[in-house]
Amino acid sequence: PDLESLLNLDDIEEVATKQISHKAWAYYYSASDDLHSKQLNNTAYRQILLRPRVFVDCTNCDTSTTLLGNKVNIPIYVSPAAMARLAHPDGEWGIAQACAQFGAMQLISNNASMTPEQIVKDAGPEQSFGWQLYVQTDRKKSEAMLARIAKLPQIKFICLTLDAPVPGKREHDEKSKNVGSNLPVRSAVQDGSSASTSPNPKAATAGQAKEGGESSGGVGKALFMGTAPDLTWKTTLPWLAKHTKLPIVLKGLQTHEDAYLASLHAPQVQGIILSNHGGRAMDTAPPAVHTLLEIRKYCPEVFDKIEVWVDGGIKRGTDVVKALALGAKGVGVGRAALFGLGASGKEGVARVLEILKAETETAMRLLGVEKIEQLGLQHVNTRALERD
Ligand code: FNR
Repeated sequence: PDLESLLNLDDIEEVATKQISHKAWAYYYSASDDLHSKQLNNTAYRQILLRPRVFVDCTNCDTSTTLLGNKVNIPIYVSPAAMARLAHPDGEWGIAQACAQFGAMQLISNNASMTPEQIVKDAGPEQSFGWQLYVQTDRKKSEAMLARIAKLPQIKFICLTLDAPVPGKREHDEKSKNVGSNLPVRSAVQDGSSASTSPNPKAATAGQAKEGGESSGGVGKALFMGTAPDLTWKTTLPWLAKHTKLPIVLKGLQTHEDAYLASLHAPQVQGIILSNHGGRAMDTAPPAVHTLLEIRKYCPEVFDKIEVWVDGGIKRGTDVVKALALGAKGVGVGRAALFGLGASGKEGVARVLEILKAETETAMRLLGVEKIEQLGLQHVNTRALERD
């Protein structure tokens, strides 16, 4: 496709939808039950109004910031999402290439279709990554992965996902189970790929689900096999401290109570990601902006103790600046990166980041803001959301 003619993230999703297999589309697009949280993730941003200031020199605009002390050129990172090679052979390595181009951070999924070593192999010295962990019932498997991650200096932190101890009921994914049945349903990590595994685009299409896998309800459920449902504040963080020296970011927090609890675990926990897993876990769970507002109201000190990031439903630069104005330090995109890959491999992901960067700059200029740190509550009117 002519990438220049794709002007927004919906255009890119439309092209990708036509190009990728139905099964890949169903896995990426799907969310739990009635897709209520997925839709609300996006529409909640529409309910927030921006408050542009005029008579401000907007010649300059700088979107750079830091995430956990790592310099990034845009406050937008790629969320951990499984199985990128379902969309394109460039896979998670391709996402890394696009992130390098834009100085963006990438979080690598526990269930990526390539090994972490393959994904970071061409990363520059400035590039930073996080590695997302789904703790496995067989803890030894997770411990072995953490030992591998410790050897990759590009990986700066562990992102522990907490919102999906069991998979949500994703009906699009379940219904498409017989279409394209030679597609992969096992991640590189599940396949036990070792550090020495050479990059092989076929690897992702080789593994067929064992132990029931695909036939038991879609790609999502197959990937969740082996994920531990018994994580707790008391037991899991001490276990993690024994097996990694890296800072921890907790992903999938959805209430001010849990955000506060997380802040009590600083400095081991240095950040939280407010997320409902793109609507793929608990349907009718709140969008991240609702949780941001709750934290502002009940425990604003959390913002001083740990970094607060958000994801879910980000489609526009205005969404990015709204989240930042409400106190988020970083803003994640999940499906957009996968659909970018589906539209045109690594160039498609680069186009997604290019559009979001340009829109974010325009929004900052129109608001009368030159630097990310200047964004604040004075730039948003959240009254329509607070009536909920
Ligand atoms: C995800 N997400 C996810 N999260 C995670 O912690 N580990 C994972 O392996 C995955 N896998 C995954 C696969 C697919 C296909 C999607 C769409 C999402 C959730 C992801 O990190 C993020 O929270 C959401 O995707 C954000 O919402 P948007 O940007 O997709 O609306």
